[in-house]
Amino acid sequence: MKVAVFSCKPYDQRTLDIANKNTNIQLHFFESRLSEETVSLTKDFDAVSCFVNDQLNKQVIKQLAANRIKCIALRCAGFNNVDLEAAGTLGLQVFHVPDYSPTSVAEHAVALILSLNRKTHKAYQRVKEGNFALEGLMGFNLSGKTLACIGTGRIGLAFVKIMQGFGCHVICHDPYPNEDLLKQGVKYSSLEDIYKEADIISLHCPLNEHTQHMINKNSLAQMKDGVMIINTSRGGLVNVQDALDGLYQKKIGYLGLDVYEQEGSLFFEDMSDTIIQDSVFQLLLTFPNVMVTGHQGYFTDIALEHIAQTSIENLTCFQSGKSNNRQLTA
Ligand code: NAI
Repeated sequence: MKVAVFSCKPYDQRTLDIANKNTNIQLHFFESRLSEETVSLTKDFDAVSCFVNDQLNKQVIKQLAANRIKCIALRCAGFNNVDLEAAGTLGLQVFHVPDYSPTSVAEHAVALILSLNRKTHKAYQRVKEGNFALEGLMGFNLSGKTLACIGTGRIGLAFVKIMQGFGCHVICHDPYPNEDLLKQGVKYSSLEDIYKEADIISLHCPLNEHTQHMINKNSLAQMKDGVMIINTSRGGLVNVQDALDGLYQKKIGYLGLDVYEQEGSLFFEDMSDTIIQDSVFQLLLTFPNVMVTGHQGYFTDIALEHIAQTSIENLTCFQSGKSNNRQLTA
C-alpha cells in the first residue's frame, strides 16, 4: 500500500520511518499541505496521512476519491478540518490518533499559565542583559485561584490534575462530565457560572458548531476583569477581534494561545524573513500580556513516537480490512 504523507517535517519523517520498519506500507513524504492545489499529488496512492492544517473539505475529498484514495489517516486528535460526511458518502475511511499524549498538551497549557503569570520570558531577556530589576515582573499565587477547565476529556483531565497540584480551586464545564472528577467532588458548572467565577479559563473542548467563537464579546462581558484565557485546543474557539477588544478594555488580563484561527498560513513554517500578511495576528503580538506559541502543545518526544506508531497501526488496520475504535464517522 502506498501512502502520501502531507505536511511532513523531518521530525515526522524520522518517527514515521521508525514506526513503519516492519510493515509493507510505502510512505512518500511531502512537505506541502494537502489542499485543492496539491491534491493532484495523490494520484497512484492508496491512502493519505494528514495533519492539523491539511484541508480535507468536500472539494479535496471529492478529488481524493476520484484519485482512488480510500483512507485518510490523521496524525492528530482533532478532526475539525475533515468533512466526515463527504468522506463517508464517497467511501473513504478516516482514522485519527485520539490519545497520543494528553499530558503533553496539558503541560503546555500550564507552561503558558506560568509564563504569562511570572513573566519568565521577560525575566530571561532582562537577566541576559544584566538587568535585574523586578519592576513589571510581579505575578500572582496560583494557589487559591479559581481555575476553569472547559472540556474535561483526555487533555482536560490531565490539565485539571496538574492544576489541583498547584492548589487551584478547579471548576469544570463539559456536556459529558468525567466520572473520576465527579467522584473527587470536582464541581461542574454552567458556562455562565464559569465565566462569572473563574480567574483562569483554559479551553480543552473540540472545535465544532457549538464551540466556535465561544470566547466572544458576550462571554467576555460576563468574565472577571483581568481574567486569564488559555487556548491550546483550536484557534476557532476564540473570536480574535473580540479578544483584542477585551485586551484593550483590560477585561482580558492575560491571553495564552497555542492555536490561532488563521494559523494555516503561518504555523509550522519559518516566516522570520517575510512580512506576515495578517494584521490581526501582528497586532496580537504587540500586547505585553499575550503569549502565542505555534501549535507546539503536542510537540514532545513521547507524543511524536505515539502519533507515528498509532498512525501506522491505523494504516495497517485499514490495509487488512479491520476497523478499530479510532475510526471516525460523521
Ligand atoms: P477529548 O475528545 O478526549 O475531549 C474533549 C472533551 O470536550 C470531551 O469530554 C467532550 O465531552 C468535551 N466537549 C465537547 N463539546 C463541548 C462543549 N461544547 N463544551 C465543553 N466541553 C465540550 O479530546 P482531547 O484529546 O482532550 O483534545 C481536546 C482538544 O485539544 C482537541 O479537540 C484538539 O482540538 C486539541 N488538541 C490540541 C493539540 C495541540 O498541540 N495544541 C494537540 C491535541 C489536541
